[in-house]
Amino acid sequence: MDFYEVIEKRRTIRKFKSRSTTEQLKRILNAGIKAPSPANRQGWEFVIVDDPELVEKISERKYVLNRGNKPRGEQVPPETEKGAQAQKDSFAHASLVLVYHRAGVADAAGAWMCIENMSLAAVAEGLGSRIAAFFGGADKDINLLLKVPDGYELAAALSIGVPAQEPGARNLRPEGSWLHRNRF
Ligand SMILES: Cc1cc2nc3c(=O)[nH]c(=O)nc-3n(C[C@H](O)[C@H](O)[C@H](O)COP(=O)(O)O)c2cc1C
Repeated sequence: MDFYEVIEKRRTIRKFKSRSTTEQLKRILNAGIKAPSPANRQGWEFVIVDDPELVEKISERKYVLNRGNKPRGEQVPPETEKGAQAQKDSFAHASLVLVYHRAGVADAAGAWMCIENMSLAAVAEGLGSRIAAFFGGADKDINLLLKVPDGYELAAALSIGVPAQEPGARNLRPEGSWLHRNRF
């Protein structure tokens, strides 16, 4: 696939039919680790989560996070509930890779470049992907769950699999609205 076609085709997929194969996942991780990193530290670590119980706990924590950290059963606006449930459901039928990095903003940047490489590699494999961000205490809960050592931070959880949906039209800022010349 032409590189620019890969860029165009990379969209966030939130419904999956099936997981990536072991071979596909290996190639996607290999694309990830070719990303640039500060002082070439390659300060990333990947946790493949394929234990259904852990996937359930991670997706449930994301659900709670997206309800504004309100536990299941506590009232939230219907739109918030719908979005949180859809987010939880988006973990189904997909491979799940959590990308960690050494603490600090520079290694975080490296991890995110890695995530982009992985997202693009997924497209080249005919797959889709979805970034899930964890913050507001959810990240710490996931660290405990996965026994992550001190000094590592979660960049994101990446779901990867065969897409079960077509993404909607891109919603981009107006052409050139982000461009400045000589002065901001
Ligand atoms: C830092 C970051 C965090 C994101 N967090 C989430 C998330 O928690 N859940 C989700 O469904 N999508 C998440 N996304 C995906 C964005 O919503 C998505 O990239 C954006 O809406 C543009 O759509 P596109 O990827 O299809 O071009 C995240 C993306 C980035 C870069």
